[in-house]
Amino acid sequence: MGQTITEKILDDHLVEGELTPGEEIGIEIDQVLTQDTTGTMVWLQFEALDLDEVQTELAAQYCDHQTYQFDFKNTDDHRFLRSAAGTYGAYFSRPGNGICHQVHKENFAAPGKTLLGSDSHTPTPGGLGELAIGAGGLDIAVAMGGGPYYVEMPEVVNVHLDGELPEWATAKDVALHLLGELTVKGGVGKIFEYTGPGAEKLSIPERTTITNLGTELGATSSIFATDEKTKDWLARQDREEEYVDLQPDDDAEYAETIEVDLGELEPLVAAPSMPDNVAPVSEFEGTDVEQVIVGSCTNGAYEDILPSAKMLEGREVSKGTEMIVAPGSKQASEMLAREGWTAEMMAAGVNFSEATCGACIGIGHVPASDSVSLRTFNRNFEGRSGIEDDSVFLCSPEVATAAAITGEIVDPRDLADDLGDLEAPGLEMGTKYGPGMGESDSDIISPDEAIDDGLVKGPNIGDVPLKDGIDVDGGEALLKMEDNITTDHIIPATADILKFRSNIEKLSEFTLSRVDETFSQRALDADGGVLVAGENYGQGSSREHAALCPMYLGIEAVFAQSFARIHKANLFNFGIVPLAIDAETYEQIDQGDDLEIVDDVPAGVSSGQEEFTVSVNDGEWEFTADLDASERERDILSAGGKLSWVKQQHAD
Ligand code: F3S
Repeated sequence: MGQTITEKILDDHLVEGELTPGEEIGIEIDQVLTQDTTGTMVWLQFEALDLDEVQTELAAQYCDHQTYQFDFKNTDDHRFLRSAAGTYGAYFSRPGNGICHQVHKENFAAPGKTLLGSDSHTPTPGGLGELAIGAGGLDIAVAMGGGPYYVEMPEVVNVHLDGELPEWATAKDVALHLLGELTVKGGVGKIFEYTGPGAEKLSIPERTTITNLGTELGATSSIFATDEKTKDWLARQDREEEYVDLQPDDDAEYAETIEVDLGELEPLVAAPSMPDNVAPVSEFEGTDVEQVIVGSCTNGAYEDILPSAKMLEGREVSKGTEMIVAPGSKQASEMLAREGWTAEMMAAGVNFSEATCGACIGIGHVPASDSVSLRTFNRNFEGRSGIEDDSVFLCSPEVATAAAITGEIVDPRDLADDLGDLEAPGLEMGTKYGPGMGESDSDIISPDEAIDDGLVKGPNIGDVPLKDGIDVDGGEALLKMEDNITTDHIIPATADILKFRSNIEKLSEFTLSRVDETFSQRALDADGGVLVAGENYGQGSSREHAALCPMYLGIEAVFAQSFARIHKANLFNFGIVPLAIDAETYEQIDQGDDLEIVDDVPAGVSSGQEEFTVSVNDGEWEFTADLDASERERDILSAGGKLSWVKQQHAD
């Protein structure tokens, strides 16, 4: 039987298991990436493994999420990351050089390779034919130590793109269309493989916008076939020799095929406050807009920003609207500057940001209260912008710029009709510059150029908490939560909180504070307990602090109707038992109930037991909770978490 692109790459990297959907497989990882908010823990965990150097072909440390310095803590973290990269043989991308996904795409991503990254949008370089997966930081540390990455073999879904995007519809609208159709849970356990004549017409930045947003579908990864466009793009980055032809076999079998006619698409937005709350722009026409931001890892490439620049040529940003451009990389910034577009945009009233995540996680450019912000980002979860009652719409650079010009949400097709001389910027952008694209490689320090030999830790960098074995018997339901609790709810990623990312004792004070401000103190007072949640618990990012901090507070188990993939893996990794309950049980449990697991959990975990009986309030009633875990995940739980497990293995 023929193979899909995904199966071909996995086959090449398979070290354990078979490519049967739902079965756990172990794969060899070629490249890893980590960023500044997850990276400090990654390197502290790598240090705990007692290895001399990184074992993968390539490892890269980016400083992108928090590049604005508020006090010494963040600067100390960046210095520690540089010292760790230098000491263990990783590339180090300096603060301000850009967002990990953009910079990795430009410098290192290659067709046919596997990439594991401690950021949920790691699948972005799938647009170049790299099989890239987001994971928890501990998985990254283990992969850097040469260990395989374990994942349930996903179903491979073919997204067959036909036709051609009409004027003013963009790659962002392809992704938003899929989100509207499939929802934020539609990709769970799946890899989306984009093929067809429509896919061939898309440029590499357009493809990577789509693969980036695949994460919002909950997908394990997203990938495109490679072609002349891939080769040409790699050549522009002076990396043509890394091109590999990757196509599905003619008789490849997909679990499902989704047909999209690009010609039918129109400008879309994701309305507040979920990426799948998708509607045509025209539904919101006339809504006042106080802020517009173009950039991020989704639409931060040079070719994403150029349409905005062209639309603003000879025009001005509306007086009541602030427009910010935050390029995804210094390469994009540099090219815009070299070609004069930065000056044009500044003259039009645009405020330029350094190449950083920043506003995407509420660090800088927080919207005014009770105002609308249009952003070209990938997430608009409530409160993520830094203010609780935010109203963030996601859209393409074209829709964002149209709003900046008029001060209100407007369908760019209507604006073009009104203005008469506004042309759709078009698909093929950025073809006039030559190979190399920019000189900003100077902001990447290669392992050969490393200036550190030894870890440099400031006072805010603590130790990694380690658990030895499991001692789980249930406890008080300290918090009952609804569906779709995100990792932002569990550990908010705002600047005032993130600065404690290397100090778990302090960071844990903020655990679930967005749901209940008293939670962490109650957990400490009760000496731990359990959590209860609805569907899709842990949706969002790969942030392992969202498992690490609850573990530190003594949370033994999470009872939820379902779990988001990466977060479930993180729960295993930190020795917290994820137990599935049905909707009826969820309804019956009250916060404050005492949930005692009747079975011997340590014995049950190691023997493969799948159902555990739970007694509520000393026998008032009982329910059954399911543990869906592979043998390896059970071993990890039994050891008290992955770090203890890997250390045990190294010791054996
Ligand atoms: Fe950064 Fe936001 Fe992307 S935090 S990695 S720009 S999703």
